[in-house]
Amino acid sequence: MAGDIKRRDVLKASAAFAAAAAAGGFSCLEVASAAPIEVPTIDKLSVRVLVDSASDIFFKPQEVSGVRTEPGRSADGKRPLHSEWGLSLLLEPQRGDDKRTLLLDYGWTPEAINGNMELLRVDASKIDTLILSHGHFDHWGGMLGFLDKHRDAMPADLTMYCGGEDNFCHRFNRAGATGELSDFGVLDRREIMARRIKLVLAETPVVIAGQAFTTGKIKRSGIERVLPNTMVEFAMKDGAGCNASHYLRAEMEGKIVPDEHIHEHATCFNLKDKGLVVISSCGHVGIVNSVRQAQEVSGIQKIHAIMGGFHLGPAPADYLTQVVAEIGKLNPDVLIPMHCSGLNFTQEAQKQMPGKVLTTTTGSRITFGA
Ligand SMILES: [Fe+2]
Ligand SMILES: [Fe+2]
Repeated sequence: MAGDIKRRDVLKASAAFAAAAAAGGFSCLEVASAAPIEVPTIDKLSVRVLVDSASDIFFKPQEVSGVRTEPGRSADGKRPLHSEWGLSLLLEPQRGDDKRTLLLDYGWTPEAINGNMELLRVDASKIDTLILSHGHFDHWGGMLGFLDKHRDAMPADLTMYCGGEDNFCHRFNRAGATGELSDFGVLDRREIMARRIKLVLAETPVVIAGQAFTTGKIKRSGIERVLPNTMVEFAMKDGAGCNASHYLRAEMEGKIVPDEHIHEHATCFNLKDKGLVVISSCGHVGIVNSVRQAQEVSGIQKIHAIMGGFHLGPAPADYLTQVVAEIGKLNPDVLIPMHCSGLNFTQEAQKQMPGKVLTTTTGSRITFGA
């Protein structure tokens, strides 16, 4: 598989893709340049969990290494926050007097993200930048419904940063013992651009809103492997789907293959005097790989926090033990597992790194450096 990915790298040509995109009419789509980035330093960061899979009305404030969590409760006593499988995070970094509001992922359904934003009193008009972590429906299923409700209130000039072309591939789940495929959706980029949003394919690292940065494509350098999940079809059909020539040999076009998540990227911050905050929304390519990529592209080694979905819920026990040990070698101050990380991960991390794990639920607010 490593060889396949290398070959994809060789075949990947941003210029060629840009031409293909132009030919396909993707006029608002840009490919991020491969120029090195200079990572900004922020003073504070607040993260609000808009959608995750659990609610807990008994959740108590916690603190680890100066990172604080507090519960988020519905402003309407008769309407609860809605929890569902999937993830959506509101990121509010601050650098000097400059405050920004970024939305990372959109949960599975528009009802959850829209309802929870209302109940948590989140002002959508303040959201100035959009990010998508990867092309799984539990991270973008709520996107178009969110945009339909809030787009007019948001800034006219709005950009969405996606990791790469295979965000837009058609994906399938393997169902039951027979392995029969069930539809897991295709994100049609025309639907996003029709809502007046500029799409940037950030296959290389980019600085976002002068405060955040993304890792670009994540190298697979350690012991981690993509655990079996979705299947993916590298093809364009009726204008939707992904351009196979961007990654693969032409003869692969149309085949449905196991998902390697070539396009997945992590969203990161450099917090003043603390180090990196790395947010992995699903972590299919490995949470350690994601953190190492953040270190490499930023040149900053100190890891303050690792947060998000680590996709270790389905991990075999011995593999989980090894990955947690590898995370320990990165020596983060705090771990904040969410979404697909798994209860098994939280328990193993608490065992190997006692006192470093913070848990959250839907509605939680996490503050760094404040
Ligand atoms: Fe995922
Ligand atoms: Fe996910």
